[in-house]
Amino acid sequence: MSSKLRVALVFGGRSGEHEVSIVSARSVAAALDRSRYELVPMAIDRVGRWADAATAARVLGEAGAKPDHVPAFAGSHALDPRLLDGSVDVLLPILHGPFGEDGTIQGLAEMLDLPYVGCGVAAAAITMDKVVTKRLFHEAGLPTPRFEVITAAEWERERIRCEARSLALGLPLFVKPSRLGSSVGISKVKSAETLAAAVELALEYDDLVIVEEAIIGREIEVAVLGGDPPLASVPGEIVPGHEFYDYADKYLDDACKLLAPAPLEPDTVAELQRLAVSAFLALGCEGMARVDFLLDGRDGRACLSELNSIPGFTSISMYPRLLGLSGVSYPELLDRLIALALERHTRRRCFADAALRPLSERSR
Ligand SMILES: Nc1ncnc2c1ncn2[C@@H]1O[C@H](COP(=O)(O)OP(=O)(O)O)[C@@H](O)[C@H]1O
Ligand SMILES: [Mg+2]
Repeated sequence: MSSKLRVALVFGGRSGEHEVSIVSARSVAAALDRSRYELVPMAIDRVGRWADAATAARVLGEAGAKPDHVPAFAGSHALDPRLLDGSVDVLLPILHGPFGEDGTIQGLAEMLDLPYVGCGVAAAAITMDKVVTKRLFHEAGLPTPRFEVITAAEWERERIRCEARSLALGLPLFVKPSRLGSSVGISKVKSAETLAAAVELALEYDDLVIVEEAIIGREIEVAVLGGDPPLASVPGEIVPGHEFYDYADKYLDDACKLLAPAPLEPDTVAELQRLAVSAFLALGCEGMARVDFLLDGRDGRACLSELNSIPGFTSISMYPRLLGLSGVSYPELLDRLIALALERHTRRRCFADAALRPLSERSR
C-alpha cells in the first residue's frame, strides 16, 4: 500500500466559473509534489453530478486530450464513491463560486469526517455573502465602502424608499447580487434614472441586493495564508481594461492588467497587510483567502471590498503569484494548505469527542 497522502482534488462544479476551476485545478495538479502526495482527481459537471474517475483524470489532463469542461453525466454519480470508501485522506476543493466556495463542499467534507483545505463552513458561506461580510467588517471596525441592503420583498413593497436610501450614498453606485461572483449581475450606476434597472438586474441573481458607494481609485489584492499568525503577501494590483473589473475583464479578453507586486509605498503595503489579516480573522477564515481592496484615489485610504475563500489557482492567478513573491513557492503553498487541513481536523476532532462524552462522565 502507498504511504503517500491521497489528495482528492475537486474541480468543475455548478457555477459560472466551471472552466476557470478546471484551469486552476490543472495548475494545482502540476505543482503538487507527487513524491509526497497521490493525486485523486474528482470532477463535478455543470449540473452537479460527479464524473467517473477516468473522466475526472482526462479533464485534468492526466491522460491525452483535455476537454475544457466536465462532460455532463459522464458515468456519473450523485457523489464520488471514492469519498465514501476510504480512498482519500484529504479534500482539496478548487471550486469557485456557488456550490463550492460557499460552504457547501466544506459541509460535505464535515459530514464525511474528511480533512479539507481552506475555510470552514461558516467562513466560506460568509465570504460568499457580500451583505454578511460587510456587516462583519463594520462590527470589527474595518473600513469598507458605505452600503445599503435591498431585499426583493422591500423592492416590491417600497421601491421609492429603497431608491432614496441608495441615492443618499451619492453617485456613482455599485449594485450587486449579495451571493454571487465573477462580477455577474453587477452594475455601476452613474445616474438616478438607471438605478432601478441595476437593482432589477441584481435581483435576477439573488433576492438580496447590496448597493455600495463607488470608490474611485485603484484595485489591490493581498493573498493570506493561514497559520498563527496568518501570513499576508505583498499586494498585487488589478488594472481593469473596462469601466470596472467586470466579467469580460476576468474571463473574456486581455484588456485588464495584473501587476505583481503593486507599485505602492512601504507604509501602504504594511497597512494593507495589517487589514488583510484583520479581515481574514474577523470573518473566521482558515487556510487561505484572497483579500480584495479599493484604494481611494482622493486620499489613498484603503477600503476592504471582499474576500474570496477559494481564489483562482491558475499559473497567472494573483493568489499563488503573490505568495510566490512573498517567498512561498507553489508546491510549498500546497504543502502548507494540506498541513493546515490535517491540523484543523485533528484539533476539531478533540472538540467533537468532548461534545460526545455523556454528561454523566463530565466532572461538572
Ligand atoms: N464600491 C465599489 N467601488 C468601486 N468599484 C467597485 C465597487 N464595488 C465593486 N467594484 C468593481 O466591481 C468589481 C466586482 O465587484 P466585487 O464586489 O469584487 O464582486 P465579485 O464577487 O463579482 O468579484 C470589482 O472588482 C470592482 O472593479
Ligand atoms: Mg471581486
